[in-house]
Amino acid sequence: LNNGLARTPQMGSVSEIPLFLHGLRVSRSPTSSWSEVDFCYVGTLWNSWNFFACNIDETVIKETADALVSSGLAALGYNYVNIDDCWSSSSRNQQGNLVPDPKTFSSGIKALADYVHLKGLKLGIYSDAGAFTCQVRPGSLYHESDDAKTFASWGVDYLKYDNCYNLGIKPEKRYPPMRDALNSTGHAIFYSLCEWGVDDPALWAGKVGNSWRTTDDISDSWESMITIADINDKWASYAGPGGWNDPDMLEVGNGGMTYAEYRSHFSIWALMKAPLLVGCDVRNMTAETLEILSNKEVIAVNQDPLGIQGRKIYSQGNDGCSQVWAGPLSESRVVVALWNRCSEVVTITVSWEILGLDIAASFSLRDIWKHDTLQAEVIGNFSTEAVQRTEVADAKGAEEHSYHILTLQSMNSL
Ligand code: GLA
Repeated sequence: LNNGLARTPQMGSVSEIPLFLHGLRVSRSPTSSWSEVDFCYVGTLWNSWNFFACNIDETVIKETADALVSSGLAALGYNYVNIDDCWSSSSRNQQGNLVPDPKTFSSGIKALADYVHLKGLKLGIYSDAGAFTCQVRPGSLYHESDDAKTFASWGVDYLKYDNCYNLGIKPEKRYPPMRDALNSTGHAIFYSLCEWGVDDPALWAGKVGNSWRTTDDISDSWESMITIADINDKWASYAGPGGWNDPDMLEVGNGGMTYAEYRSHFSIWALMKAPLLVGCDVRNMTAETLEILSNKEVIAVNQDPLGIQGRKIYSQGNDGCSQVWAGPLSESRVVVALWNRCSEVVTITVSWEILGLDIAASFSLRDIWKHDTLQAEVIGNFSTEAVQRTEVADAKGAEEHSYHILTLQSMNSL
């Protein structure tokens, strides 16, 4: 969607980059507006749903904003605080406008937006392209213009737009009216489509929203996470500056996966240029959770100015145990994840050939979890042993490396 959002890196500049996306040549060059736009390139954010579901109120949102700042996550780019379902009253007011639940958001959304903005953060809100939200609060179908104006008047910066109670009308018809309504407000509001992959949004949503969900809801389990990663992967070629595939929010820190599994989850989401929507209670994070979410090198993969979604390029063994996911990065780099998806030890070999690189080229290898340059000059291929992932039950077992994620820096261009 060309509304000026989700197109540019949060800071810095890159020289003109020709990109081939969707078969089209897209050129980007620095413009003066870059410094005015402080949206993340893809988006690193927090959202209430995965941890809190309907148990939210203005105190939770304010404390979350405080915690994003005090934990250092805000400074790393996690700068949206997004309220999900259940913020609104169960009916509209007499003028037909949405109103916040008077019990839980008694100070109003404008006051909350002001609070969040004073912290240097942005506020996101949620509605639905149907008669009701999924938790049966009023939906915005046929109220798009009024609701967009309401959100803009409150100072809202982001809208997640769900798909429940949709009256059987195709999403292609229900989502564009809210895009137009948001654009007409004159406020920059990030438009996030949440229609669960119905009617293959990657094929049409690039002109409608800044991101679109490609799958059903994630749950806090390894099986859910890998299934969703695989579905999202199919749509890789449709993502790019302005519009991203959204495989749903992160479960990192919610307790259903091990440390290594959460690192896999975070790595693959970063490599896939997925929105990094933190979904845990950031007021009460463990050191491990904070360490994962704060990994600057992995975040930089996600926010890389080239904006090309990495993808699964190799899968071998029973049930595709040994996988290689990879994608190009700016500055003659490639990101590569070696991912053991099964329970036995496997050795995964990555050759320049399967990466589509010149087989004679030499690269330096950097482990972006260890923050360590492993080998200064590698030609042709490299291998690594990936030990089985540990199950939740023995989460504190051996130092597992169910995967490795590396960047390769071309030596030839230096
Ligand atoms: C749907 C969405 C979720 C969440 C809930 C809220 O299931 O896909 O992300 O917003 O609704 O009710």
